[in-house]
Amino acid sequence: MPHHELSAEVARRRTFAIISHPDAGKTTLTEKLLLYGGAIRQAGSVKARKAARHATSDWMEIEKQRGISVTSSAMQFDYNGFRINILDTPGHQDFSEDTYRTLVAADSAVMLIDNAKGVEEQTIKLFKVCRLRSIPIFTFINKMDRTGRDPFELMEDIESVLGIRSCPVNWPIGIHGDFKGVYHRDTRLIELYSGGDHGQGQVNVETVSIDDPGCPAKIGQTYYEKLMEDIELLDVAGDEFDMEKILSGQLTPMFFGSATNNFGVEPFLNRFLSYTKSPTPRVAEGVGPIAPDDEKFTGFIFKIQANMNPAHRDRLAFMRVCSGVFEKGMTVWHSSSNSRIKLAQPQTFMAQEHESVDLAYPGDIIGLFDPGIFRLGDTICTGSPVRYSGIPLFAPEFFCRVSPEDSMKRKQFLKGINQLSQEGAIQTFKRPNIGREEMIAGVVGVLQMDVLEYRLKTEYGVNIVRENMPFRFVRWVVETPKPLDRLRLASTVAIAEDRVGRPVLMFENEWSIRMAGENNEGLVLAETADRMTADEIE
Ligand code: G4P
Repeated sequence: MPHHELSAEVARRRTFAIISHPDAGKTTLTEKLLLYGGAIRQAGSVKARKAARHATSDWMEIEKQRGISVTSSAMQFDYNGFRINILDTPGHQDFSEDTYRTLVAADSAVMLIDNAKGVEEQTIKLFKVCRLRSIPIFTFINKMDRTGRDPFELMEDIESVLGIRSCPVNWPIGIHGDFKGVYHRDTRLIELYSGGDHGQGQVNVETVSIDDPGCPAKIGQTYYEKLMEDIELLDVAGDEFDMEKILSGQLTPMFFGSATNNFGVEPFLNRFLSYTKSPTPRVAEGVGPIAPDDEKFTGFIFKIQANMNPAHRDRLAFMRVCSGVFEKGMTVWHSSSNSRIKLAQPQTFMAQEHESVDLAYPGDIIGLFDPGIFRLGDTICTGSPVRYSGIPLFAPEFFCRVSPEDSMKRKQFLKGINQLSQEGAIQTFKRPNIGREEMIAGVVGVLQMDVLEYRLKTEYGVNIVRENMPFRFVRWVVETPKPLDRLRLASTVAIAEDRVGRPVLMFENEWSIRMAGENNEGLVLAETADRMTADEIE
């Protein structure tokens, strides 16, 4: 492919994830975005997928019937000349380490916030992962049609809880559920709100310039005056719109709207697409950054989805294309086997159906049929071997002591546990000093424990006994001033090690983490660890 064609394909791509707490409106917003792109004709299909996910017990059944997971996908659509890839970040019961890993494949994030709730727990966790990578974060304050918090208070919330400065691009008019519309600071236009579900199509909204003498009458004199005051305050005291700071993730542009009413969504999308980046170079170890329009094809695996149907052991590996052109059936070098392989049966993801793919470009996400060769963080490429830095391990939040019901099955049990932790479904820990052998499974999302139990039973024929543990945090010990058993720690803190023997501390609450830091000068703890090492040592 000529270089300029590849560059053009790169330039029109936008690959992002929506980060939010459950019920902020991610499904609704995703659906509206897909509607704009004409990717789905009817509202409701994304919702249907979500409803299917909602019931925990049904979930296993669905997985079994469909074979390949319904819980994970990337959605691709075209809009105004852009090719958009939205990475799905499962947020309800199926919140798991995969949700974090997905963010490693995104170039930017849309942070969706419920105007009545402000910044919530899961948003904070996902935000932290975006922060680690310094990707641009765009904020959409949702549900403006309803009574919510004061917009200045929401700005303050974002800045104090997340530690990122914010810059409103538009500003809401009206209070206490009497929503009148938004004022766009860049165009000086007010878009007037009219309620009702405009979900089926793009909306024709009435606009009025703030400089129009008829403006106060349109939105009401009191609201007009309040708006003028607010704008002045923002102009004087607020952060300036600074593209460089936005792109480096130090400043978040803020938008207000209502996803169900399809209000403010399109203006948001247009600005988001023009401000945010197309795929940027990624750094390969020892080689440096590889530009997306480099003719060398490279990509990495960020998620592996097991087939829940025990009759089919195959898995689906999700790859993000980083540079060059991906072609169906191409032969590539694969990092963890250090050999050349042929990539068969690639799939791309639309809103619902998986489609076969012939060509893919940087920013695109592809599902690869995986007979069991791929590992998380694997690089694949044409030409001479290169490696992108691996995907870290993220700290689990739920812990169970697990053992086989039948001690004769210990060997299968260990085999299963090992395989599942290699896939990234669980992490394992043990406490070396407790005088007996134990296996602690740690997961980010509690449902993963059910998955563990189910898969050990169906794939390895092992019934397990699960015993919940009170820990909610694990931290890897990066540096310690003295041996761990001589540190000053709360009595509930456990000393343990991860799968490859790296020391960790397990905590029941954030208070004891803070105390550990305060009482032990020189103790350095980390919320993530290097995965490469974990797999290499095996
Ligand atoms: P999620 O994927 O982030 O979990 O959220 P989802 O889109 O499912 O939205 C959660 C609830 O919030 C839904 O209501 C949805 O209709 C509502 N919602 C989303 N955006 C807006 C908005 O802009 N304004 C208002 N007022 N509500 C909004 P639900 O009652 O749970 O579901 P349903 O009755 O709509 O099916």
